[in-house]
Amino acid sequence: MTKKLHNEIAQKEFFDDWVQKKDEDLKRLRAMPHSRFFELYYSPLKDSVVQLANKESVRLMLELGCGDGDYTLSAAETFKISIIGMDISKISVRWAKRKAMLRNLSGKAEFVVGDTKYLPFRSGAFDSVMIFGLVHHLSGFDVLQEVSKVMRKEGFLLVFEMVSNNPVIPIGARFLSLSPKSLRIRILDVGHSGEIPTTFSFRVDTLRNYIETRGFKIIKEEREQLFIFLIWYLFMLIPQVHRLVPVRILFALSKIEKYLLENTPMRELCRSFMSLSIRQ
Ligand SMILES: C[S@@+](CC[C@H](N)C(=O)[O-])C[C@H]1O[C@@H](n2cnc3c(N)ncnc32)[C@H](O)[C@@H]1O
Repeated sequence: MTKKLHNEIAQKEFFDDWVQKKDEDLKRLRAMPHSRFFELYYSPLKDSVVQLANKESVRLMLELGCGDGDYTLSAAETFKISIIGMDISKISVRWAKRKAMLRNLSGKAEFVVGDTKYLPFRSGAFDSVMIFGLVHHLSGFDVLQEVSKVMRKEGFLLVFEMVSNNPVIPIGARFLSLSPKSLRIRILDVGHSGEIPTTFSFRVDTLRNYIETRGFKIIKEEREQLFIFLIWYLFMLIPQVHRLVPVRILFALSKIEKYLLENTPMRELCRSFMSLSIRQ
């Protein structure tokens, strides 16, 4: 077996395991009185998904690397659109299908197992494509070139990616890659094996440039906060600490960070970058 094929299979197995651990981690966080605070992280992106799904010209959407389908299902809930979620992990797709059934959305949200590198769809089929947290796993593979083939002109692309602008992120990643597996399993987005998947991180400018040079015009940008994630990691590492930190203090600090990200040069210290663009 070639090394490349071996890595691809290992990566698929990794994501099967990751989705199960993610579910366990989320259950733990949701059981804390601070769960409302962690919802802050998901809500801006979910709001953007719903806004996109509500656009008059959007009927058929595609989400690549949909995981267990949380965002896909948020879009499907608008009732006007149909959406296909695709992921390389069989277990994630199975869970996504089950969630769709439980939420009575099976007819509107379809999930398929597949690799982004081979999109089995008709040219120009989709009015909109969403890609969240996937590009950094593709080792430089040009996913937007494939997206251009299956998305019609004037279609919308919503991209959300972790970026490496804030020095805390690469330093933290380095520290975690050198730390014992038991620590990684406790606090990081890894599966039960503690292996870290192939990641490839970039700065906001690189990501923006990538999107624009593939024929998309960016019409909206948002930068996501780091603070929520630092608290998330802290609570995963030392769960007891939540008793010492009142949730209203977290909300207040997070508001200050949001203000600084939106209004000052500190915007470079974001954790993730989200952009909405139109295919030209
Ligand atoms: C960090 S997770 C993000 C999941 C989801 N989009 C979210 O934001 O919660 C990355 C997802 O990409 C999927 N993935 C990785 N490589 C892929 C590929 N080549 N084709 C399709 N999906 C892939 C993984 O299985 C995983 O579900």
